[in-house]
Amino acid sequence: MGIDGTLLVLGASRDQIFMIDTARALGLRVVAIDMDPKSEGFAHADESAVVSTRDVPAILDLVDDLRLRGHRLVGVTTMGSDIPDVIAELCAALGLPGPSRETARIATDKTRMKIRFRERGIPIPWFEEIDRVERLREIVAERGLPLVVKPIDRSGSRGVFLLEAGCDLEALFARSLAFSRVGRCLVEEYLPGPQISTETILSGGVGITPGFADRNYELLERFRPQFMENGGWVPSSVTPAQRRQVEDLVVRASLALGVTDGVTKGDVVWTPDGPRMIEMAARLSGGDFCESLVPLGTGINYVETAIRIAIGEQPDLGALVPTRNRCVANRYFFADPGRLVRIEGVDAIRGEPWLVKLVVRYGAGDVIPPTTSHAERAGVFVVVGDDRAEVQARIDRVYQSVRFVVE
Ligand SMILES: Nc1ncnc2c1ncn2[C@@H]1O[C@H](COP(=O)(O)OP(=O)(O)O)[C@@H](O)[C@H]1O
Ligand SMILES: [Mg+2]
Repeated sequence: MGIDGTLLVLGASRDQIFMIDTARALGLRVVAIDMDPKSEGFAHADESAVVSTRDVPAILDLVDDLRLRGHRLVGVTTMGSDIPDVIAELCAALGLPGPSRETARIATDKTRMKIRFRERGIPIPWFEEIDRVERLREIVAERGLPLVVKPIDRSGSRGVFLLEAGCDLEALFARSLAFSRVGRCLVEEYLPGPQISTETILSGGVGITPGFADRNYELLERFRPQFMENGGWVPSSVTPAQRRQVEDLVVRASLALGVTDGVTKGDVVWTPDGPRMIEMAARLSGGDFCESLVPLGTGINYVETAIRIAIGEQPDLGALVPTRNRCVANRYFFADPGRLVRIEGVDAIRGEPWLVKLVVRYGAGDVIPPTTSHAERAGVFVVVGDDRAEVQARIDRVYQSVRFVVE
């Protein structure tokens, strides 16, 4: 028997389609909203509306209308969109389960988050919020380089820069600051070491972390001084003991943010001193992590669990155990800026059974902007195989085959 009721999903882009489909498979009626009338997710939902996912009054009006038409709203949620503040506001107004306003405030302000983590003994890099380049110069004189500068209120690597010897501190600080909606930046100690993405599901203060991927940064040189990962790996190559340490850390970090029933997405670095948190978001990832890497690699669909929590059910976390162990990777396409003439080589590989997904964002004639964040990515693909060597060979084949011809 399916679940009765209506779930409101904020966002109807590709990032939310997996959630819309999963909710409908559970029996829920799904209403999806997005400000883009051409959103692909609309066709997946039972009903849709062209409303901004940040416009709380308009969404509350929509909910009134839904209720008048007989909908029984049981939850409001999203994935891939960093709007816990909106979700918290709506859930509070509608009496639905969701992140608290306090959680949302901390999770969307990297300074508040680091202060909270420091208070709770969560290992993090040294940090300071700065408002002028003179202070940055003093810090560089005191602490040396490398350092990292980032806006406190953005995501997707927007405005996150590595400060290295010889760099133009003033220019990078100004660029980073320009990305901040509130005009605030953080400077941080640079943490060396492999980076891990996690997704934790919490219910009644108990957390488990079925999402666990190694992040791939081989394009660091190409995008320097920007941090741009180009995909991830499941399973991670950390040892079981290391994995337990990271899992313990991200559950403690989730509770420090006040998330006892919900989801969190962690950015962790395995430093020479053990794992440390870069940040944690109070939401599920978009893209491929929870919708492809983890389900294909482990058989676990925790988006379903996240939906159950968002409608106030108490899920059985013990059921979130892997049913298979396959190697999966996703990789991004980044194209040079310019007008796209054509994309070559897609048909040649499209039918390969190991290529689970290949999506390009641009079509012929589109003007591709310079890549300054993940928002400008040209596409993504997902590859499966028996082990990393096999998957890597397949990744190489895709990258060799697909070419974005730009003028
Ligand atoms: N202190 C740091 N040490 C090492 N790498 C960092 C640090 N801060 C950020 N990064 C790199 O930059 C990426 C983006 O920074 P992050 O703080 O996670 O901001 P965003 O909200 O844009 O994801 C991280 O995933 C990581 O690869
Ligand atoms: Mg991050």
